[in-house]
Amino acid sequence: MCGIVGFIGKEQASPVVLRALTRLEYRGYDSAGVASIYDNEILLKKDVGKIAEVQGKYALDGLPGNIAIGHVRWATHGVVNVPNAHPHTDCEGKLAIVHNGIIENYQELRHQLEGEHHFVSETDTEVIGHLIESYMKNGDPLEKAVTATLGQLEGSYAMAVISVDDPGKIVAVRRSSPLVIGVGDGEYFVASDALSFLEKTNQVIFMEDDEMAVITDDGVMLYNKKGKQVKRKAVKVEWEWDQASKNGHDYFMLKEIIEGPEAIQSAATQDKKHVMDVAMNILRAKQVIIAACGSSRYAALIGRYLFSQLASKFCDVVMASEFQYFASSIDKHTVVIAVSQSGETLDVMEGVKLAKAKGAKIVSIVNVPGSSLARMSHKALYLNCGPEICVAATKSFISQLVIFYLLAFAMMNKLDQGVKKLKGLSVGINGSFAENSQSLMTLADKLYDQGNFYYIARGINFAMASEGALKLKELSYIHAEGMPAGELKHGTIALIEEGTPVVAICPNDETYHETISNAIETKARGAFIIGISDRYNEIYDEWIKVPEVEDIFYPLSVVLPLQLMAYYLAIRRGKDPDKPRNLAKSVTVK
Ligand code: F6R
Repeated sequence: MCGIVGFIGKEQASPVVLRALTRLEYRGYDSAGVASIYDNEILLKKDVGKIAEVQGKYALDGLPGNIAIGHVRWATHGVVNVPNAHPHTDCEGKLAIVHNGIIENYQELRHQLEGEHHFVSETDTEVIGHLIESYMKNGDPLEKAVTATLGQLEGSYAMAVISVDDPGKIVAVRRSSPLVIGVGDGEYFVASDALSFLEKTNQVIFMEDDEMAVITDDGVMLYNKKGKQVKRKAVKVEWEWDQASKNGHDYFMLKEIIEGPEAIQSAATQDKKHVMDVAMNILRAKQVIIAACGSSRYAALIGRYLFSQLASKFCDVVMASEFQYFASSIDKHTVVIAVSQSGETLDVMEGVKLAKAKGAKIVSIVNVPGSSLARMSHKALYLNCGPEICVAATKSFISQLVIFYLLAFAMMNKLDQGVKKLKGLSVGINGSFAENSQSLMTLADKLYDQGNFYYIARGINFAMASEGALKLKELSYIHAEGMPAGELKHGTIALIEEGTPVVAICPNDETYHETISNAIETKARGAFIIGISDRYNEIYDEWIKVPEVEDIFYPLSVVLPLQLMAYYLAIRRGKDPDKPRNLAKSVTVK
């Protein structure tokens, strides 16, 4: 995944790059580094660890020069160690490069270069640096050497390069990895996302695949694959830098959970004509497929129940990473709904590209404005929940649910009613947050050393069980499984033993009695039952009371306790919920 940034302007560049990098840390936090050009030299500092740790050791912001690039890493090729951290250089240290993506043919290229070039890392990125070095030997400008290099690369990349042999410019290119340019007053950024530099400028040029940007303190020149200049104006990005602060909370995750009820309001505030239009497209389509990953896929599964229950519209949900294997059934009568907070998840993007090539209509449900997915879709519905920084999805998941509710109500031609109901829900849900915080903290104290959790629910809430389990495992590293309550007896119940926590999501709806029966079956085998419900039952060892709502809205009623439970368990186990190990927020590799 990784985050990259470059800055050129009148002021010292490294402090600006460092600040931007801290906003990109959600993309990777295995290691960090910055390189600048000063006095005809590349100056470089990097190390393993989170940015604050690397900064504490090496004062990345002390590098002089008004041109610099930086990187936060999520390791793909090569272990987490200092040589593998970015920026990388060539043999003589005359250029520096930061890269996000994967070069698929790097081994082959490395073998070709090894005789003449000295490699110090195991990364695919270093190969690019050495290739550029070879082409720079001809005395070519940096952009020409980069273009020649690209001709040899297979795979995905967003990269930024600086060189002392052609100083005063950053050359940046992208293919299938995000890259945007920030245009300030006599200063320019290139970065994996606009959030990183919004403090300085909200004027953004979105780069397309196979484009190259040559950035100097005089301006930005953009070129297409054929080397022809492309004219594109910067557009204003509406997000505010302040939205991406912790606002007094210890972690972004808690702040973003608290923002959940407000997210319902913002997501429900949409252009009604646009929502109706998308809903009609879905309703009329011969086939509807929803593609998404992780939490976004669980939101999609709930959307699927809503479409079916409210609008009698059947659709399928396909894991985006498996989408390609269903491609043969896609045609121009298919609507593909791509759901992604970041709008950059490569599995989703690949699926969408494939479906688009087969003539399908693409609707996206996306949070990040101007993201690759939003730009690639025929129609986009935005979550409007502002930046989500914690790696785990919380408020964006809630907003995705809201969009599915809106679409389902629109399909019934009852959009206004749906909006009113959704907006009315946020007060009760807010109350449940305050009510449950203390008991969930106490529960975390009781259960933090358990090795396994099981989450069960039925009907529309089944995906909430899976979502609750995903939150728990990714944040606290406790193994957890979520499943339809009725499925438990077909195998998993064998794992229940004395004290095993079973989270039974059993709202007081048509599923209540059956879910309770399944919970009783686990209790008979020693399970500790945490009932998440608006209705008390004596089998609960712990009752997390949630607001009573209309049956179809129970996913929104139970979501905050599930998120909070994972949060408190992570905290109790001493884990950083904002930056879970091995994960990154924007998954731009396959
Ligand atoms: C879990 C989580 C991930 C994402 C998944 C898709 O808390 O955040 O499972 O939901 O990586 O990401 P997007 O929605 O950006 O495509």
